[in-house]
Amino acid sequence: MPTLPAHPTDDVVPAADGPAGTPPEADAPAEAVAPLLRGIAVLRRLTDADGGTLGLSALERATGLARSTVDRVAATLAHMEYVRLDGREVTLAPGLMELGNAYLASLRLPALLGARADRLADALDESVSLAVADRDGVRFIHQATRRRAMSLSFRIGDLLPAERTAPGPLFAAEWDEDTWLRWRLRRSGDPRDLGFPAVPPREHPTGDADFEERAATAAARGYALDDQLIEAGLVAVSVPVRDPGTGRVACVASVVSHTSRHTAGDLRRTLLPRLRTAVAAMEDELRTAPPAAPGPAPAGLAAWTGASKQELGRGFVESLARGLTVLTAFDEARPALTLAEAAKATGLPRATVRRALITHVHAGLVARSGRAFVLTPRVLSLGFPPLSRSSLPGIAHPHLAALAERVREPVALAVLADSGGEIQYTARAGTPRVMSAHVTLGSRFPAAATAAGLVLLPGPDAAGHALVDGELEPGLRTLAAPVRDRAGRPVAAVSVTAHAARRTPKECLTDILPELLRTAERVGAELRVAARFTEVPLV
Ligand code: PHB
Repeated sequence: MPTLPAHPTDDVVPAADGPAGTPPEADAPAEAVAPLLRGIAVLRRLTDADGGTLGLSALERATGLARSTVDRVAATLAHMEYVRLDGREVTLAPGLMELGNAYLASLRLPALLGARADRLADALDESVSLAVADRDGVRFIHQATRRRAMSLSFRIGDLLPAERTAPGPLFAAEWDEDTWLRWRLRRSGDPRDLGFPAVPPREHPTGDADFEERAATAAARGYALDDQLIEAGLVAVSVPVRDPGTGRVACVASVVSHTSRHTAGDLRRTLLPRLRTAVAAMEDELRTAPPAAPGPAPAGLAAWTGASKQELGRGFVESLARGLTVLTAFDEARPALTLAEAAKATGLPRATVRRALITHVHAGLVARSGRAFVLTPRVLSLGFPPLSRSSLPGIAHPHLAALAERVREPVALAVLADSGGEIQYTARAGTPRVMSAHVTLGSRFPAAATAAGLVLLPGPDAAGHALVDGELEPGLRTLAAPVRDRAGRPVAAVSVTAHAARRTPKECLTDILPELLRTAERVGAELRVAARFTEVPLV
């Protein structure tokens, strides 16, 4: 199929992140952009940290960078809305998912095959995943999760050691000598898999011959099993989905279960045939998919960085912002870009883009494919796994807190419940001053009598905002604005409740509404980025 990006032909050996404290630019080529490598190192450390959060001092230790550098990198990433700064803590923010989205869009497989994987999971009532090869590892690009007895479930972007998975041997059947060599070196350097934060450390080292044999068997049989290689109880069966153009493995589809439901042998006998049928349909889908709709090519994606530099001066690392923006030039209609195309899309000088791409190749985020460049699965290592589990209340909360601080009134997020008859509060911020009717999380009110309900229900307020007097109790006024999803539908409402004695209805509109609308729009923008390839729970 001509629509999938070509396999990278000239895969250089990118540096893995060194041990804590190794400066990110330690072994980089002379032309690499050091601030870009530093930014990438900070994002990777945050991705591996619990909850996607680290203190500035912890980042300083983990990256080996000077404190002033960490401060400026963090400020730049915060300005890009890729992280949030909260005092001395840095936390990954959903806006960062636009980088992983660029990779997943350019790959096209999640868009073409994801719905089929979801339907298979529904039909089997088991988890189904799609994974791609990431050098000697396996990285998930789609997850339809139905996990019950399992302590572990993997996220989009998680990287697993190939030899501890079912997809691994199917990919290894196509490895070249360099990948096998890299695999042996990695295993001798990290026998317990400590470099793979998504899996528990290996308890019993196995010999290399084991996996070589599994790869040969998988190639011969066209499927592979995982019989509790990651943890006790977890079993999986996998089948390769082949690119109809090249015949190579495009991705691997897996059915994942638990020994309390199926042994590995059962999976093979009962579920493998159904997985094979689904994979045949996926391959048909790839064969018949029309080329991605071209759409207008982006232009000037990085045009904003100059103004930010003017505004923020030394606190803004422009080469970092420009370098990361280069990654957003790739998408489904433009999976491979030449230097000239990337320069046009970003509006940056060719020399700047060239150095950014050299840097990304070194960091393993971009690979050469003939004269062009393509994104690699490693782009997902920039924040995607922790962020792919965001819920709307989680996305909204920092924005609600900032709004409550600015308007000095309590703020809440609500969704429709009870088939639209009621609204339910799902997040809140700010302490009510004089309010006796507490908006507690989960509490419900009749939708038609609340400002939040009025912007969520079809009707005259659905497109803008609503103001309701005496909503929760006499003497209170509530103003609400909608949060919109990717289809433009209002899916939640942000509301501010003000004491009537302190503001007239007109003052509510002048003092509060502009801030409220900005907040609802920001929450919506983050929701739309996060929901492009993942399910974002609304409650
Ligand atoms: C998963 O999708 O979580 C999965 C797939 C294959 C494995 C293990 C886990 O071998």
